Amino acid sequence: MGSENLPVHVAIIMDGNGRWAQARGLSRISGHQEGKRNVKRIVKYAANLGIRYLTLFAFSTENWRRPKEEVNGLMEILRLGLQEERPEFIREGIKVVFFGDRSRLSEEVIREMELTEEATKFNDKLSLAFAINYSGRDDIVRAVRRIAIKIASKEINIEDIDDRLISQELDTRDFPDPDLVIRTSGELRISNFLLWQSAYSEFYFTPRFWPDFDEKEFDSAIEAYTHRERRFGGI
Ligand code: FPP
Repeated sequence: MGSENLPVHVAIIMDGNGRWAQARGLSRISGHQEGKRNVKRIVKYAANLGIRYLTLFAFSTENWRRPKEEVNGLMEILRLGLQEERPEFIREGIKVVFFGDRSRLSEEVIREMELTEEATKFNDKLSLAFAINYSGRDDIVRAVRRIAIKIASKEINIEDIDDRLISQELDTRDFPDPDLVIRTSGELRISNFLLWQSAYSEFYFTPRFWPDFDEKEFDSAIEAYTHRERRFGGI
């Protein structure tokens, strides 16, 4: 596959851990554990393939509605995962960042996030973003607030507000818009993911549950993408 056709930024809604576990008579948390193992596999594969930006939807602002036990389990998987994988991120040249509102996260999780960002900030092979306590609408709400503060303090004028300025105030400001958005597990929705940023993205849906979304599946998504004709509203 020619690297010239590769998507620059791939974003993934990692769905189906719960159903994967249920189908095997396992707890939902073991499904998330398996999901974490798959994160490792796909991150490594995407980096070696030459993908420059990868965003993974790890926890949405709506996921707090799940039973406390599952929320705590997910947070613990995130915290431990970052701690355990940090040396690997450093070794592989992966720069890790986070999208989402940190204010509701525990100190312990925030600490692992900050340590990982700091330890990988000069890496330049793959930029990897974990969206944690993220939703597209919340991202836009927080951006609008920042813009309003700048207007109130006369740092900018109302006429300065345009596409580019809004993009610059979103959590994703250092990432290009996603070329390809993948959702696993057969759901055909965007579920409040990168709403503003996916205006011209190509979408790829697969019935596979996230723990089963392997290298071959990733290849199929990339392959499908390379055959799409992108017109960005032109002809
Ligand atoms: C969706 O499956 C998945 C999540 C809500 C969590 C995704 C998190 C991980 C894969 C762990 C990430 C780990 C690190 C270290 C970043 P679901 O629970 O909605 O599945 P269901 O729709 O079948 O119930």
